[in-house]
Amino acid sequence: MTHNILAGNWITAAEDLNGASPVFRRKFILEQKKVRSAMLAITALGLYEASLNGRRIGTDVLQPGFTAYQHRLQYQTYDVTELLEPENELTALVGNGWAVGRIGFNGKVKAYSDKPALIATLAVEYQDGSRVLIITDRDWEYAQSKVRFSDIYDGETYDASWQVKDWKPVLLGNYQKENLIPQEGAPIREHNVFQPILLKPPRGETVLDFGQNLTGYVRFTVKGEPGAVCELSHGEILDKDGNFYNENLRSAKAKLCYICDGTEQTYQPHFTFMGFRYVRVDQWPEEVDPSRFEAVAVHSYMERTGWFECSSSKVNQLYRNIIWGQKGNFLDIPTDCPQRDERLGWTGDAQVFIRAAAYNYDVEQFFRKWLKDLAAEQEPDGSVPDVIPNVFDSQMHSAAWGDAAVICPWQLYLTYGHKDILENQFHSMKRWIDYIRSVSEDGVFWKGGTHFGDWLGLDAPAGSYKGSTDPDLIAQAYFAYSTSLLIKAGKVLGENMEEYELLYQKVRGRYQQEFIRGGELTCNTQTAYVITLYFHLCDQPIPFARHLAQMIEDNGNRLQTGFVGTPYLLHALSENGYAQLAYTLLLQEDFPSWLYSVNQGATTIWEHWDGINEKGEMWSTDMNSFNHYAYGSVADWMYGVMAGICPDESAPGYRRILFRPITDKRLSSVQASLKTVYGKVASGWYRANGKTVYIFDVPSGCTAEIQIENQNFSVEAGHYEYKI
Ligand code: BGC
Repeated sequence: MTHNILAGNWITAAEDLNGASPVFRRKFILEQKKVRSAMLAITALGLYEASLNGRRIGTDVLQPGFTAYQHRLQYQTYDVTELLEPENELTALVGNGWAVGRIGFNGKVKAYSDKPALIATLAVEYQDGSRVLIITDRDWEYAQSKVRFSDIYDGETYDASWQVKDWKPVLLGNYQKENLIPQEGAPIREHNVFQPILLKPPRGETVLDFGQNLTGYVRFTVKGEPGAVCELSHGEILDKDGNFYNENLRSAKAKLCYICDGTEQTYQPHFTFMGFRYVRVDQWPEEVDPSRFEAVAVHSYMERTGWFECSSSKVNQLYRNIIWGQKGNFLDIPTDCPQRDERLGWTGDAQVFIRAAAYNYDVEQFFRKWLKDLAAEQEPDGSVPDVIPNVFDSQMHSAAWGDAAVICPWQLYLTYGHKDILENQFHSMKRWIDYIRSVSEDGVFWKGGTHFGDWLGLDAPAGSYKGSTDPDLIAQAYFAYSTSLLIKAGKVLGENMEEYELLYQKVRGRYQQEFIRGGELTCNTQTAYVITLYFHLCDQPIPFARHLAQMIEDNGNRLQTGFVGTPYLLHALSENGYAQLAYTLLLQEDFPSWLYSVNQGATTIWEHWDGINEKGEMWSTDMNSFNHYAYGSVADWMYGVMAGICPDESAPGYRRILFRPITDKRLSSVQASLKTVYGKVASGWYRANGKTVYIFDVPSGCTAEIQIENQNFSVEAGHYEYKI
């Protein structure tokens, strides 16, 4: 049965509610006939929770999710047949959310709407085929709800003692409907639940420790006198003295305030989420009993597809931290971090992490939606905003960030093998390359511009976030790399790519002309060498790889790379004969390294290599997230090189698998498996009696090329073991 949401009108409260959430209601009586079905199509500017006869509709949270609302606003459809009664009351609570509340660190509010608004259509069909439509219109009423305040960054205030009364007629709102689209993204749901332990830190505060840095919210049960206040603050870590710390949240208040009504109630917030491991109990009307609290992890639904384990428990912890980084930052859009006043769809972060993400989970639906927003938000000149959905007024159009337009669709194609992702995004991919051309010298050299550079690289000059790698070199390298991916995508689609092949030759040639002198790069940083190698921008990689290896060794076997170099660092080494050095970097425990944060007790991936330095001090208060997935991109090397599971471009979706595991004597076993569209792929190795045993599983309908210790085997579906 169709349920055209467009039949409804936008409705709002008729007055300013000072931040309180309106609750809308419509009472209706059904005819005394049997109902065949009842479908509700609903969405909001803001976030909504709908109920029918006091029963919550659906289990998804933070609906309608986050899209570039001015172009695309998802509505959800629910079968509510079972909730109907002869006399009904349909209600919807609407909070500020991304559309109305604060968004971005510039203090912007009401980015998409001046107030919370609702639109819905309930289509009831009787057994005899007759129908009735209940639409949002002037027959609806609103009142101020118990949600007295809500904001994505700042938290929620809920007054259980507030009497919901004084129902008034709604206003019809003049918001557009052309942007309404059915749900595309993966639904946002509650997942893992954690029980806390009670800490008594030196400062004497009451702190709950949930044991895992996560994204979501706290649920608690409490009984207090009417008007008694419960107040909670959220933080990701403790400071060096073991005290609660949340200064890195910047302006995000991330507070919950609950006002009791005299009865025992269980509460969880409706329209906010926090990134936290610790909760400080600031006010509580009874003795704090940890068993009355739990933390609920909230993220987009994604099926787990990848598993990795090796003989190093620290590497395994790093891997778990990456998984939690993904859970925490895949809340409808790929975000940089879930705790401070950002939580934005930074394009650079997303492209850096997508390869790891696509091993860990099935992220196809999740990214398809976001990439459509990216395409919708591209400027007329083809440039890509720095964050999608775009909430900023000015843009950098940075290399390695805008390249998400090309890198992400190509990765989805490789992992899932569905050509239509390239069909859908090809225009957007091409527009990004054409934009670069349009701002480039001679149409081939991307010189100047505003870039984030090798963001947070450790070779940054004092006081700067940008590593020392020449931003022109990075821009030109990405220009070449993304053009090469566009060509591949075009060929898959049967497009004539001659023009871009010629462009690629010129861009690559210009890269060499501008940045290579006497067999070395003009910029002597790890990241410059990493991307030159990984993007195949030099004709003779061996001396460049040797140079990179030397730089790392001279630096005490330590990395210095930021967002641009880190994802490819280990690949650039292992692809060019330096796999053992790549392992050394992975297994390095001294600062800076991946395992440094593991040794510091991290349960997610830090934004900075030195988020907490060796003296236990915080890097800074202004840019110090402890849940930033970017450096978790190393998971892609764990699956792809340690276990050696790689997709083959010529038969994507793992229809043909390339197994290329590389072992290291410091580990005694590695195993990984991957649920692909064709079935389960597995790869692993372990030591037995002085030999290495390799094991591979190839699902039916697939073939594989196995490469181990300079031997090659071509195999069909089956289970394989080799002892070497
Ligand atoms: C974000 C990053 C992002 C960067 C742009 C930061 O504030 O947290 O992850 O990519 O800005 O340089």
